[in-house]
Amino acid sequence: MRRIGGKRGRRTVTVDALSATSDAALAHDDDGAVVEVIGGVPGDRLDVTIVASGRARVHAELQSVASPSIDRVDAPCPVVATCSGCPWQSVGYDTQLDWKHRFVVEALRAYGLEPTCLTPVLPMDPPFRYRTKLQTPISGVAGALRSGLYRRRSHEVVTVDDCLVHDAHGEAARRGVLALLDSHQVTPHDELTGLGELRTLLLRVTGGAQVAVVLIVADAGRRDWPALGAALLAVPAVVSVSLNVNGERGNRVLGPTTVLLAGRPTLTERVGPVLMELEPTAFFQTSVRGAERLAQVVRSLLPAGVPLLLDLYAGAGFFAAALADRAERVLMVERDPAGAAACRALLQRLPCPAEVIEGDVAQLIAQQARLPAGAAVVLDPPRAGLADSVAEVLVALAPTRVVLLSCHLESGARDLARLVSEGLRLCSVTPVDLFPHTRHVELVSLLVPADVGTPPPAPSPREHGAKGAG
Ligand SMILES: C[S@@+](CC[C@H](N)C(=O)[O-])C[C@H]1O[C@@H](n2cnc3c(N)ncnc32)[C@H](O)[C@@H]1O
Repeated sequence: MRRIGGKRGRRTVTVDALSATSDAALAHDDDGAVVEVIGGVPGDRLDVTIVASGRARVHAELQSVASPSIDRVDAPCPVVATCSGCPWQSVGYDTQLDWKHRFVVEALRAYGLEPTCLTPVLPMDPPFRYRTKLQTPISGVAGALRSGLYRRRSHEVVTVDDCLVHDAHGEAARRGVLALLDSHQVTPHDELTGLGELRTLLLRVTGGAQVAVVLIVADAGRRDWPALGAALLAVPAVVSVSLNVNGERGNRVLGPTTVLLAGRPTLTERVGPVLMELEPTAFFQTSVRGAERLAQVVRSLLPAGVPLLLDLYAGAGFFAAALADRAERVLMVERDPAGAAACRALLQRLPCPAEVIEGDVAQLIAQQARLPAGAAVVLDPPRAGLADSVAEVLVALAPTRVVLLSCHLESGARDLARLVSEGLRLCSVTPVDLFPHTRHVELVSLLVPADVGTPPPAPSPREHGAKGAG
């Protein structure tokens, strides 16, 4: 296929594939030139307008569907064409899972790993109302506050009245909070002029339908925020209201300090047998249902009675909480001071002795003695994956099982290849769909020392309700 180069204007294209690295689907025109178009479903014939053509990519905007793919579904969200949140919403959910599975196969093969140990993708069921954390930028329309998500490739806010991937209690709270803020004449912050107060609303909903609200403002000014916070507790389900001041321009959502205005300082989340107390801005998975699914998969990969469990990149200690009843001792390592504080707050609640080390995983494992036989390690690094030295040093500690969670396909496949090249055997890769209607997929992989005989079986897809390609 060739690329269009500088040609602009309208044309009809056929969609060939979804992309693992971009929100856009890949299509070709009748001359065989490649076009990227958001909202395309493989098999569609689409009328598009070429909007930009760089050296590497030609972007087109979907005008109309000339002939739909059999995998096209009606996207239920009215702003799907402009909002950046759910680029795959017109793709049938089983087809989304098939594509994610295909992306995992390709990523593993790119690093020389055969996908024989790969299970189908575990679905989010149902694939809507799954997010329990929402950061929604604020704008103003006709003097009233609006919130939504950013328009694609822009900082313009698309108003979203009911975000269908966000928890229903959270959405009701969002509407109630906005109405109340409006009645108190809170003004939207304007990035260009620097005027106005409210930049972003952060909402976090627990599995028990309690909502924490964080008002992220550009400048605290003279407003009586504690009084406003107390008033916001009247919104149904809202139990905690905090204020965060972020006066910096740019994409960082939160400023350095968050203060409680009214209500509870923490939200209570049940994780397996443990109740976690989480500050509203603490790192936690963005979906309670997704977090439960991850915990379920990781549990199925670890036997009971693990003498030592290392929870590396522990965040607020989610995996330690979910797995501590399988371990005799737990060690959590987390670099972020707020995360490490949350881990320490967990110590008394865990059913086994535990320790928290606040610091860098690479440095900690470099100082760690060889692990006791049967020790297990859970690694959940950020998107960039493991630092260069971690695979080598970790394998030298002789863990009996390693569970790697990867939220980024490319770095996840690279890390698996590194661990294998250091002497571990890849026993199972379980992709979990934490973000329906996007290209993202989480991998949960089990590795054991290469000289261990029969690897334990991968979790049964039927047991976890998997759909998609086998
Ligand atoms: C993907 S999150 C995982 C959090 C946690 N496992 C959970 O599920 O809630 C990655 C975590 O690693 C922490 N982190 C990033 N780099 C680190 C490093 N070099 N050493 C220790 N922690 C690190 C981040 O602060 C973040 O909390």
